[in-house]
Amino acid sequence: MTFASATGAQQAFPDPVETSRGPDEETMMTTVLVAGATGSLGSLVVRNLLARGADVRALVRESSVDKLPAHPRLATCVGDLTDGADALQQHVDGVEVVVSAVQGGPEVIIDGQRELLRAAERAGVARMIPSDFSINLHGYGYGVNVLSDLRRVFSESFAGSAVARTSVAVGAFPEYFLGAVHEVLDPAAGTFSVWGDGTRPVDITTIPDTAAFTAAIALDPATAGRDVHVVGQQLTMLELRDEVEAASGRRWELVRRGTVQDLRAEVARRQFTASALFEYVALQYQVAMYDGTGSLRDVRNEDYPDVTPTSVSAYLAGPGAAHFREPAAPLRRDDWPTAV
Ligand SMILES: NC(=O)c1ccc[n+]([C@@H]2O[C@H](COP(=O)([O-])OP(=O)(O)OC[C@H]3O[C@@H](n4cnc5c(N)ncnc54)[C@H](OP(=O)(O)O)[C@@H]3O)[C@@H](O)[C@H]2O)c1
Repeated sequence: MTFASATGAQQAFPDPVETSRGPDEETMMTTVLVAGATGSLGSLVVRNLLARGADVRALVRESSVDKLPAHPRLATCVGDLTDGADALQQHVDGVEVVVSAVQGGPEVIIDGQRELLRAAERAGVARMIPSDFSINLHGYGYGVNVLSDLRRVFSESFAGSAVARTSVAVGAFPEYFLGAVHEVLDPAAGTFSVWGDGTRPVDITTIPDTAAFTAAIALDPATAGRDVHVVGQQLTMLELRDEVEAASGRRWELVRRGTVQDLRAEVARRQFTASALFEYVALQYQVAMYDGTGSLRDVRNEDYPDVTPTSVSAYLAGPGAAHFREPAAPLRRDDWPTAV
């Protein structure tokens, strides 16, 4: 069965007939709690887990319960990570694996996930996948990227924990990387911008493919205590521009914005002048992508042969074609507070 799909949130909910044919008995008996189950990524993780035969508990805030689909193996747990470990424990009792796909600032990514981890420890949960789903954020240190730093601080909470950490790294989501915030594609100007020489491969994985891999990894006990790197496609920025030109049927002028050192200087300048995080954090990711410190290592796609990731060309021929059009409205301050 192939779980990969580029249809995103619109993909059909797993057919109960199909889901009754779980890969094996062990998977059928696995109970997974997904935090962030209503988000772009988390909602697809839930669907993929159900399609693999797992029992799923969705941790959702009261205000978001209506966003959950109905499924016989999907239980709703109303809760907020900021409720604290005592309140969260009832939801993780009897759970083998916790997957967190939450998004937010330090109160969610550090404090909230710590409370969930404390609850998981008390409940005897075997493994937790934190909400990383990024470039290889453990390939570089503190001070490079404000959002990676939140995740790195949380990862240190696993030291001495009985719950094993499994971090999933995928590179950049094209849904974001080719959107306005990264300043790579500019449909109005017809430009494709790169920093550096554009010859180092970058890692690109769609949100649906990340969800498909994450479900497989969540049900794979061999990932306990590991950073698992999986990817949709690796290609250089110059190759990505070729793919964009082929898919859009138009020319995109290559703009060389400067060296990677120039990019670091631009990030530093914006950190002092920006009015919102999104004005510089996307460029912080690009620093680590273009200098190679954030590149995926030891890519393990072969461990999950039933996940067939979407190629960049297939993505651009499908939902990614939207990147070729000018956005209806410019980015607003609140559009992209914490994501990548
Ligand atoms: N590699 C990349 O290029 C890339 C790009 C974007 C995102 N990401 C990563 O992917 C992960 C998921 O991001 P996303 O875009 O799917 O996020 P999203 O769509 O914004 O969803 C966030 C989820 O977190 C939930 N949530 C937020 N605060 C919570 C709290 N206090 N308690 C419980 N739930 C809470 C939200 O619930 P509600 O429905 O109640 O709001 C929602 O379900 C993040 O780690 C993000 O950094 C990676």
